Amino acid sequence: MKPTIAPYPSGRFRRARQSEAIRGLVRENTLTVNDLIWPVFVRDGEGVEEPVPSMPGVVRRSVDLIAEAAVEAQALGIPAICLFPYTDPGLKTEDCAEAWNPDNLSNRAIRAIKAAAPDIAVMTDVALDPYNINGHDGYVVDGEIVNDATIEALVKMTLAQAEAGADIIGPSDMMDGRIGAMRQALEAAGHHNVMILSYAAKYASAFYGPFRDAVGASGALTGDKKTYQMDPANSNEALRLIERDLTEGADMVMIKPGMPYLDICRRVKDTFGAPTYAYQVSGEYAMLQAAAQNGWLDGEKVMLESLLAFKRAGCDGILTYFAPAVARILNG
Ligand code: PBG
Repeated sequence: MKPTIAPYPSGRFRRARQSEAIRGLVRENTLTVNDLIWPVFVRDGEGVEEPVPSMPGVVRRSVDLIAEAAVEAQALGIPAICLFPYTDPGLKTEDCAEAWNPDNLSNRAIRAIKAAAPDIAVMTDVALDPYNINGHDGYVVDGEIVNDATIEALVKMTLAQAEAGADIIGPSDMMDGRIGAMRQALEAAGHHNVMILSYAAKYASAFYGPFRDAVGASGALTGDKKTYQMDPANSNEALRLIERDLTEGADMVMIKPGMPYLDICRRVKDTFGAPTYAYQVSGEYAMLQAAAQNGWLDGEKVMLESLLAFKRAGCDGILTYFAPAVARILNG
């Protein structure tokens, strides 16, 4: 039964906002360290940390420093770290074989993190773009990004990551049918506990620009990703993709980008009730940092507000480059 809303003056909504104590009591959503997944960029070398110019405050780290960063993240209580490799351009080929090399950068980083910080979950990225000579997430044959041949490569990549010790596989490629193929292959190889967080509703977005700089894919990419990533105009299609990926065996689902797509987060959570994540992507991060650096916005406040908004929209967690900064604030 709905309570009747008492009219003014006996009903005053402002009573519930009068002090921090009362506001705390009636607060509907909370951001916690448990909500954070930290995306990091890994490069080769040793003791190397190099800034990503379009993402102020974000660096590419060599494997040894990635392990150190994971130790720090674990100490902050961040539950998961997500790896993205900056692959040497010389290793990019048409067949993308480096993607399933057991000793590629990403797989070495997984092992180093597992050895140094065993309690943090390691998430990966499954897509061919860091290894593809043309920068696409799938194989390109006669100008077409081919679906089924790409899935075979993605499965090999998945198994190599699981062998290296990944806890959560993150397919970001948007091919059709890859979740089922990956799940089956993981089961057959005995990796029953390896989870899949599907980038199920991933839009063809201009907000990925700085990320492509960070992984060195900007120069490589020919054309755009509109034949596999979603049209930003669509919403019902996102629900159908999420349903499909859950049916194929995804344990968790993602909406990406985040801030401009909170309506999708809410619909997905309300419709499926599955573990739902959003990716506050590189362009969102760059936008907030740029304004903060210019003194146009209060950086700390907009960071916290933007992340809380994901919780309000129904997300269970957020992939965010702000993760360590936020964790430090939330830990007090
Ligand atoms: C590539 C991938 C992208 C991101 C994550 N995985 C970029 C793309 O699809 O071009 C973007 C993340 C970000 O912008 O922060 N498979």
